[in-house]
Amino acid sequence: MTSSSHWFRSAVVYQIYIRSFFDASDDGVGDLAGVIQKLDYLRGGPDSLNIDAIWLSPFYPSPMADYGYDVSNYRDVDPQFGTLSTFRELLAQAHDRGLKVLVDFVPNHSSDEHPWFKVSRQSRHNPKRDWYIWRDPKADGSPPTNWLSVFGGSAWELDPQTGQYYLHSFLSKQPDLNWANPEVRAAMKEVMRFWLDLGVDGLRVDAVDWLSKDLDPLADDPLDPAYDPATQKPYYSLRHLHSKKGSQEFTYLREMAEVIESYPERFMITEMHTHQWDDAKTYRNFYTKVDPAVSAPFNFEGIFSPWTAKSFKDFINDFQKLLKGDDVPVYCLGNHDKSRLASRIGRRAARTAAVLLLTLPGMPVIYNGDELGMVDGEMRREEKEDRTPERTPFPWNDHPQAGFTSGTPWLPVTPEYPRLNAATQLAEPSSLLTLYRRLLDLRHHSEALQHGRHQSFTVHPDVVSYFRESPSQKLAVFLNFSDHEITTQVPFAKGEELLSTHSRTLSEVTHTLTLRPHEGLVVALPS
Ligand code: NOJ
Repeated sequence: MTSSSHWFRSAVVYQIYIRSFFDASDDGVGDLAGVIQKLDYLRGGPDSLNIDAIWLSPFYPSPMADYGYDVSNYRDVDPQFGTLSTFRELLAQAHDRGLKVLVDFVPNHSSDEHPWFKVSRQSRHNPKRDWYIWRDPKADGSPPTNWLSVFGGSAWELDPQTGQYYLHSFLSKQPDLNWANPEVRAAMKEVMRFWLDLGVDGLRVDAVDWLSKDLDPLADDPLDPAYDPATQKPYYSLRHLHSKKGSQEFTYLREMAEVIESYPERFMITEMHTHQWDDAKTYRNFYTKVDPAVSAPFNFEGIFSPWTAKSFKDFINDFQKLLKGDDVPVYCLGNHDKSRLASRIGRRAARTAAVLLLTLPGMPVIYNGDELGMVDGEMRREEKEDRTPERTPFPWNDHPQAGFTSGTPWLPVTPEYPRLNAATQLAEPSSLLTLYRRLLDLRHHSEALQHGRHQSFTVHPDVVSYFRESPSQKLAVFLNFSDHEITTQVPFAKGEELLSTHSRTLSEVTHTLTLRPHEGLVVALPS
């Protein structure tokens, strides 16, 4: 098998936020049986999207302080979501359809209700004490350092029982595991093997930047002079030089990659963030230091960049340039932590964005609901960290509660559901869902889109344009980021329009091209 035929080199991944996908048990919360019931929508059914892989948000037993990113048992399924046998059934049915399954792996922290932490907090000297990060208060009783939790406040919580602080880079209910302790690393690699042995095809690895920190000696993070309290949350008042991205990050990631390597055809995608001041270096480090044949970092620039041709052209070109050989780029435009794509850029641009995402090389990741143009739920964001607006239930049809549940949904369904739902959009030739399906179909039939090289060219400041070229096929992609019509010369004599975001007759392109406002267009060139 050539390396280009590994499934993960061009797989389109679909992120399922299980709580909000489909509720088969009528308790108002989505579950694994619900995912099984909706597999036809994803792959193998008559009207499927035809995606290649799903990434399932955490479904492990959890007090749900962070909706499953606080795990109290790494080897089971939370009763709210099903049982291990439901998971096995899901895996089997997905595999029968040729659908790969990635699960979320949360190595940096457990729940404070995990038995390991319960033992750890009991006394200063117990076999699990060093599985978490415990330190004495300063002389005045204050926390050991000024480190901040991503979710607000100090990253240290005083535990009265033993008079020491424990570190939590996220919520106080998510104590950080001590990855410097080899026993912890061994235990977490066992967890990886547990799921890989069950047959999962890959892992999405959470919050890897916090695995390594400077613990010995502890030092305060310096203030960030660029911090702007009006636009940034307090977490960014510090430069996190000591509390994350420590010297061992890549060592630990390599250890994880070794586990992945020991199974055939498995892959891991890490949730790694870049610093504004060294983006390219951070990515290059990853691909150089961790085996790129089994792992890749998410590229989140598509979520953070403003929707302008310049910023997208810049980050895509910079990023593509630093990739080598078999490095897999992993692009995404949305996820369960960030405001919805259509809310950020608007519904018209969301069509252009679909063409972008599905014509880029590597592994594009679609956040469930973005293919319908879902926008943020209108509930009030209770606080800065409230991420419920982007997590509202998936609207399946125009039945009560959008067909998501026959109970009371855990979050309100979108009031738009009578029109904005999967069933209606499936039947509608000009819907966003239909555009996604056409793009997936095009991609699956195109060697150039799946494995061809990416070569950018410039036609207009408001247009992102690139070739995708394989030995047998050459395509040109044009994306009009503006809301005006653009007529431009093209760098080829002749081409055939293959797909447009707009309902119009496709024609031949000779020397010039007119792009409608927000139009995304794929053109086939003679090979
Ligand atoms: C990143 C996850 O995407 C987010 O939802 C979670 O809260 C944090 N990591 C902490 O696990």
